[in-house]
Amino acid sequence: MKNRNSNEFSISNIDEINDSGCKEFKVGEGDWPFHGFLVKYGKNIYAYKNYCPHAGHQLNWSPDNFLTPDKKKIICSSHGAIFDIESGLCVSGPCVGSKLLKLECFINNERVIIKLP
Ligand code: FES
Repeated sequence: MKNRNSNEFSISNIDEINDSGCKEFKVGEGDWPFHGFLVKYGKNIYAYKNYCPHAGHQLNWSPDNFLTPDKKKIICSSHGAIFDIESGLCVSGPCVGSKLLKLECFINNERVIIKLP
C-alpha cells in the first residue's frame, strides 16, 4: 500500500515476521514490479532489493528464505555469496566487497514501512 504523495510503502505488520526471519515483498504491478525482502534481526528490521550484485539473480529459491542456516547472514542461493545483514556488504563468495541495495525502512503503528529509491 502506497502512502499518499511519497515513495513510502506499507509492507507488513511487524509481528508477521519471526525473529531472525524474512519476508518477501513486491511493490507495483505490470512487467517490472520492485522485488524486495525484509529481515528481522535482533531488535532491528532491514529491507533490501532482492537482487544479487554478482549476476543479478534474485537471492532466494524458496519463499522468504534468505538466511544462512545459523540465521546470522544473508545468502544468495545461486552461487553462495554471503552478505552482512546490517550493511548488505558481501563478505564471502564471488562478489566480496559489493553490496545489496539497502532500502530505508522504519516502523509506524506496528507496520513496516519501506521507502523506494
Ligand atoms: S547471483 Fe548471487 S552469488 Fe551469483
